[in-house]
Amino acid sequence: MTEPALAATMKALIRDRYGPPEVLDIREIERPVPRDGEVLVRVHAASINDWDWGLLHEPTLPTVRRAPRVRILGSDIAGRVVAVGNGVQRFRAGDDVHGDLSRFGPDGWGGFAEYVCARESELVPKPAGMTFEQAAALPQAGQLAVQGLLAGGPLRPGLTLLINGGGGGVGTIGVQLAKPQGVEVTGVDRASKHEMMRRIGFDHVIDYESEDFTQNGRRYDLILDTKTNRSPSRYTGSLNPGGTYATVGGPRIRDLFRIALYGLWSRRVTGKAFRLVMLKQNKDLAYLNQRFDAGDLVPVIDGPYPLSEAREALRVIEDREVFGKVVVSP
Ligand SMILES: NC(=O)c1ccc[n+]([C@@H]2O[C@H](COP(=O)([O-])OP(=O)(O)OC[C@H]3O[C@@H](n4cnc5c(N)ncnc54)[C@H](OP(=O)(O)O)[C@@H]3O)[C@@H](O)[C@H]2O)c1
Repeated sequence: MTEPALAATMKALIRDRYGPPEVLDIREIERPVPRDGEVLVRVHAASINDWDWGLLHEPTLPTVRRAPRVRILGSDIAGRVVAVGNGVQRFRAGDDVHGDLSRFGPDGWGGFAEYVCARESELVPKPAGMTFEQAAALPQAGQLAVQGLLAGGPLRPGLTLLINGGGGGVGTIGVQLAKPQGVEVTGVDRASKHEMMRRIGFDHVIDYESEDFTQNGRRYDLILDTKTNRSPSRYTGSLNPGGTYATVGGPRIRDLFRIALYGLWSRRVTGKAFRLVMLKQNKDLAYLNQRFDAGDLVPVIDGPYPLSEAREALRVIEDREVFGKVVVSP
């Protein structure tokens, strides 16, 4: 391993138990050292995902251990490589990178800290024109957007798309990926975000507080859902013949399984597809970077918040409307 003189300790937002954001403390802890195949990254920005919020709280499955395995949350990071472990081929100190570190096990996550170790396979080079904050906003939300948009096959001009939760992380990226392909895009979110949503490309917007898009008689070729807050049959009437409903997530796991089960017979009976999109980490990040470099995509950032305010930033995603991605700068 090659390692320049670096401080032996670092600041990190860390917890020893499950609970609300108050269980997180900023502490000075030992800086990690990259192992074989890993690089050490000085984190310049990390975005907050719904998944971070979920991991904060005690799991409901009885088999899961009581002390959290992931003590430092934060999967989506952007920063500069400052040291490399043995066998690292693709990066060297000084390279700017970003990626999703949401692998399970004691070594995953860790982005809400000044330094984190990542496998080189979890990172791609950050485009020179992209800020660290923009780069941190892309990994999970961007790749869920790519993978969700393709759930019904390639996009084509004239395709009609509805994104439920259009003003959040996936929606603000998804619309920017779909518009250049000639897709007509409707976004559902609260009214306070509609101006921002129109600005980044949504053709039509619906306020979820005053209108139920499954009851207004309009139909779409593709529905991309980040909320999954209805029974599957409610979406069927909002799909055109041969259309696809794709969910990337929602607050209740059982609703996602219902979608998957419904999809097993729906295609045969109604000709409409229902898909549960499982994130494939770090598969499409290079593609997102190409779209950024082409000028198609500018991530919408809420923040950045300093690490000292990261607890409050975590509360933001629960308590108030978020515009795009919440970003922390350690
Ligand atoms: N499939 C996988 O493998 C995988 C992996 C990681 C994450 N995920 C999931 O993927 C999803 C990520 O979505 P995201 O990053 O876009 O989330 P997000 O940033 O939280 O955006 C969700 C948006 O939906 C809006 N919203 C709230 N209630 C709504 C309603 N009733 N109808 C329509 N919109 C509503 C929110 O606005 P407000 O400000 O009003 O709340 C917010 O703008 C999460 O559900 C996460 O759990 C899935």
